[in-house]
Amino acid sequence: MTTNNEEMVVTPWEVRGKIDYDKLTKEFGTQPITPELLEQIRKHTGQLHPQLERRIFFSHRDLDWILQRYEMGEKFVLYTGRGPSGPVTLGHIVPWIFTKYLQDKFGAKLYFQLTDDEKFLYHDEFSISEPQRWAYENSLDLIALGFDHRLTKIILDTKSIGVLYNLAIQIAKRMTYSTVRAVFGFQDSTNIGMLFYPAIQAVPAFLESYLTGKNVPCLIPAAIDQDPYWRVTRDVAPKLGYYKPAQIHCRFVPGLGRGGKMSASMPETAIFTVDSPQVAQKKILSAFTGGRATVEEQRRLGANPDICSVFAYDYFLFMDEKEIGNLRYNCLGGNIMCGECKLDLAERVMKFLAKHQEKREKAKDRFEEFLFNPKDI
Ligand code: TYM
Repeated sequence: MTTNNEEMVVTPWEVRGKIDYDKLTKEFGTQPITPELLEQIRKHTGQLHPQLERRIFFSHRDLDWILQRYEMGEKFVLYTGRGPSGPVTLGHIVPWIFTKYLQDKFGAKLYFQLTDDEKFLYHDEFSISEPQRWAYENSLDLIALGFDHRLTKIILDTKSIGVLYNLAIQIAKRMTYSTVRAVFGFQDSTNIGMLFYPAIQAVPAFLESYLTGKNVPCLIPAAIDQDPYWRVTRDVAPKLGYYKPAQIHCRFVPGLGRGGKMSASMPETAIFTVDSPQVAQKKILSAFTGGRATVEEQRRLGANPDICSVFAYDYFLFMDEKEIGNLRYNCLGGNIMCGECKLDLAERVMKFLAKHQEKREKAKDRFEEFLFNPKDI
């Protein structure tokens, strides 16, 4: 459990404390998404995705530049991924849903990296086959979200390494130990696989350029925890003659407990895409809310949606503008009690899971279709 006073920590491996996104934008040196930039996006997409309208995607690097290149006729590729260490949560799918929107609107190719190597190296207790098994399982979630197989290439690091390696060593040669140590906080006890790994996560950002022999812009949608990787990737880009990859960063879907992001390492406060609807319901019914101590107090004083994990789920994933506005109004005004709200969310989540799990089953026959094959280039 985290408290509001706990220090904010955001790294690719750990997110805790109360997240101050303005502070993060400054610390990481990224740019806020401005109304002007939203207008520039709207020109190409028509409607804005709710994740943009609500600033769930709140920060970027070079998104304006990538749109300018696009307007000059230069298409970009998308790149995102997953470290397969367990089942996928509803938090992970937030940036993937947004990535699909970008793919649909811009007709963009997507490289999706499954970093079974990263998870093997990071988790002492893993044998090599565990992250490989999770990689397959997690890819079913991606496929179930409806990505276009003609435009989507899944890179499974241990399987695709033959194609990645030439580029990985070119990148690694230009990344110093002092840089990765400073950026990732590596220690003397860190294994040397982890020291090399940032080069592997950089590869897909340049892969299209490398394979086609011409410079292709790349846009990376992900939560902001992955940003340290993009800093070191952007550093080496000009040294290799490639464009720096652009990024668009999202906030973290919180866990169902008090504060902190939804994380697979805290299963009781995370909803997994493979949870049975009953299990998900049970987790939601014990979620932390912004409610008052008694019903009477809540009717009189209203509750606090801004700290409520149930409200957050509706906000990130399930409600449109009008519904979320009504919920906020009724919550603040004490017109709705937390029990009722939890039951409503549980129903929406159970419906989502039932449909998603059906699509996930069907995805089992389609994995090979999505797997990256350099001959497709
Ligand atoms: P991983 O598996 O930790 O996370 C996968 C994606 O989910 C995002 N994410 C979240 N988004 C919203 N709310 C949350 N609570 C939440 N938790 C995680 C992550 O930012 C990420 O986008 N090293 C990477 C794998 C990777 C990758 C990439 C990710 C390789 N290449 C390119 C993004 C883009 C990892 O372990 O992700």
